Amino acid sequence: MNGYVNPDYAPEPQKMNVKKGLEGAVIDTSSVSIVDSQTNSLLYRGYPVQELAEFCSFEEVAYLLYRAELPNEAQHAAFCGQERSCRKVSRAALDTVRSLPKSSHPMDAIRTGVSILGCEDPRSLDSSPPTNLDKAIHLLAKIPTLIAADYRFKKGLDYVEPAKDLTIAENFFHMCFSEVPPKEIVKAFDVSLILYAEHSFNASTFAARVVTSTQSDIYSATIAGICAIKGPLHGGANEQVMHMLLEISHPERADHWVLDALARKKNIMGFGHRVYKSGDSRVPTMKKYTQSMADIRGEQKWMKISAAVEKIMLEKKNIYPNLDFPAGPAYYMMGFEIDYFTPIFVMARTAGWSAHIMEQNANNRIIRPLSEYVGSPQRAIVPMPDRM
Ligand code: COA
Repeated sequence: MNGYVNPDYAPEPQKMNVKKGLEGAVIDTSSVSIVDSQTNSLLYRGYPVQELAEFCSFEEVAYLLYRAELPNEAQHAAFCGQERSCRKVSRAALDTVRSLPKSSHPMDAIRTGVSILGCEDPRSLDSSPPTNLDKAIHLLAKIPTLIAADYRFKKGLDYVEPAKDLTIAENFFHMCFSEVPPKEIVKAFDVSLILYAEHSFNASTFAARVVTSTQSDIYSATIAGICAIKGPLHGGANEQVMHMLLEISHPERADHWVLDALARKKNIMGFGHRVYKSGDSRVPTMKKYTQSMADIRGEQKWMKISAAVEKIMLEKKNIYPNLDFPAGPAYYMMGFEIDYFTPIFVMARTAGWSAHIMEQNANNRIIRPLSEYVGSPQRAIVPMPDRM
């Protein structure tokens, strides 16, 4: 009966099959991507990610994630035209990002910036498929602008307007550094965006889907994704990898550093994965481009330290590197400040989040799991003066 308290209620202790961290739990179907740990493969809409990285641009991959097919030439031109036309953000958004404390982490600035995009969009509560697709393209276009603006403001530099004649990767360099580097560097960056774009039901995508499942809007769901990816066990690991490589600083010190960290039960950042247990399918491709960055810069130190860390982790723990391990030093050698590595991950993963948000909307049921209760049994309230 509603509101009735049964004084004799004494439930049997529950025995439930708790899946800590949702390990092994299959919570829905998805046609966006598959991570197959048996074959070490990752497919976006059926295409191997390694081939997408070699033969396609990040824009083509975003289109694929949103619309389930690769674009033809006309579709690609229309998509890029639309994305390029909505890169600018409002003066209010820029002023807000500029007004944030210089000490704030860029991830907090991006989260705040996306909040403003949501406040400014009069269609914020309209989650119909065409409107959501349009908003997804706006997010893809505007998030890099917010990141680059924060980058410039934190350095005391003037804002650089987005360009209309550059790709997403080229434009990001242009907005951060006022110049576009040689095409090999742009390609390495574009490849990293493709590899980071999507990875099935990872923590941030799941967070975005949970928010979407309540019929909340795409901005709110994207902010949930940003909040989840910030953590060092998820996207924040690419920053921690570079801090670790800098701390190790010489290849000969790698063994001692790793053994000492393991002895103190510390997790080595950029290693391990909930799904992949014998290697991350994205690592060989990223490693190749990180090596190309090292060759371009004439600086092999980070590759040597990385190789030494990887060797000792395999020997001692049989744990393989994940994508964050080669991505961290690649971004460092491209010239980005370390605390912008995770925001770069955000500008890539926005594509995957939006694809999942649209998929969740198309066939929604609110996500509401259970927990095993291990708290106090029912008890009576003792009124205040007598309460111990
Ligand atoms: N360094 C050292 N040991 C690690 C490790 C790491 N990076 N990752 C996993 N392990 C160990 C665990 O301590 C555990 O050991 P135990 O059985 O003796 O307790 C064992 O490997 C199994 O790991 P588990 O805790 O089941 O992994 P998980 O699925 O819960 O967590 C990660 C996965 C990714 C969170 C975890 O591997 C990690 O923290 N990695 C570092 C952060 C990172 O790179 N994140 C980016 C992921 S793409």
